[in-house]
Amino acid sequence: MSEGAPSLAQRAQGMIDALATISADPDKLTRLYLTEQHRAAAQLVGEWMRRAGMTVRMDAAGTMHGVMPAGRAGRAGNRRLLIGSHIDTVVDAGRFDGTFGVIAGILAVEELRRHNVALPFEVEVLAFGDEEGVRFPKTLIGSSTVSGALGDAMLDLTDANGVTIRDALLAFGGDPDALADEAYAPGSVIGYLEVHIEQGPVLEQAGEPLGVVSAIASQGRYRIAIKGEAGHAGTVPMDVRHDALAAAAQVILITEEIALKHQKASCVATVGEIKVSPGASNVIPGLVEFSLDLRAATDEARATAAEAIRYRIRNIGVKRGVLVSIETMHEKPVATCAPHLKKAIAGAIGKATGKKARELMSGAGHDGQAMIHLTDIGMIFVRCRAGISHNPLEFVEPEDLGTAVEALVGTIESMADSYGAKDR
Ligand code: GLV
Ligand code: MN
Ligand code: MN
Repeated sequence: MSEGAPSLAQRAQGMIDALATISADPDKLTRLYLTEQHRAAAQLVGEWMRRAGMTVRMDAAGTMHGVMPAGRAGRAGNRRLLIGSHIDTVVDAGRFDGTFGVIAGILAVEELRRHNVALPFEVEVLAFGDEEGVRFPKTLIGSSTVSGALGDAMLDLTDANGVTIRDALLAFGGDPDALADEAYAPGSVIGYLEVHIEQGPVLEQAGEPLGVVSAIASQGRYRIAIKGEAGHAGTVPMDVRHDALAAAAQVILITEEIALKHQKASCVATVGEIKVSPGASNVIPGLVEFSLDLRAATDEARATAAEAIRYRIRNIGVKRGVLVSIETMHEKPVATCAPHLKKAIAGAIGKATGKKARELMSGAGHDGQAMIHLTDIGMIFVRCRAGISHNPLEFVEPEDLGTAVEALVGTIESMADSYGAKDR
């Protein structure tokens, strides 16, 4: 490991800790898209970007952009390398998911400047505000905006308090009508890099601090509504009920059964959110709405599982006399990392760790799933303790943070070599 690693590690840890104090809840870390806490985190990130010598702006979707100009001419022309991740969190989150990728980008720029490296392309660090898709039933809004993959922005979707994405964007200082203008022209970028904690146990078990991502799993998010008939819990006999929650319980178990059937393709199904109406102990539930998150290592396995779930849900609806609807909120195919970026990353990991880089797939979703609509993507994974994530126990050794930044700098330098010699 090079001499700079300990201080890089400390700087990264200090920034992680600073961002972790920005939360909607003093007892746990929760920072949702377009909230006061998102604004405070974006401001802090903007200050760090400025300190690193970047030109900073916030775009129409609330994404922070920091640009370091090119230091010399080269084959990349005026194109730029994008580096990003997200600063929103899940509820009661860990402190590294997403935030470390943004911090790594900023620290990499600081390092490049410190060593007077003149790159033949611009570097732009992006801090997206919505990778988790927790506040609104829509996800990857920031990265889909810049990559031109937003499609229908679903601006009228609401959060739990009935606030639309449109109104939340306006209150934040974004511009719902300008989202389409933020998309980069495909020819203007040379690639997208992201550093992210692994959120799984592979690297830790292998005793390796870093790994190179091969692809991001296929993912779908759905909203399921089951409409039965509300009634008196004491008077309606069991055999004539249309209990929406009993039907939902059956559906949830079926999603589990079907995911298990496709286990070989790493299929996973999760119902993480559920709303029961009217929601009283002596009323038969009349309406149940819940989320379904379905993922697999291949698009085919996910599509087959999704179709099987739809089929079984329709049957339950008929049998129980309840109305069932399934709405697709988000569907992303497998996002395969570009071979030339994997090679650059693997070389940089080799240099930073002294070990041959291991390739691994990401079961978790990332902004790269949207960025791949625009450009080639490459990802560096960082080991985390026991693979725990989306949990306050999420932990990364400070030394690994420093090594990850070194590997990112090495990857950028290797790209500089292939786009025209770099200068010091
Ligand atoms: C984001 O963390 C996701 O994988 O859902
Ligand atoms: Mn993440
Ligand atoms: Mn996450």
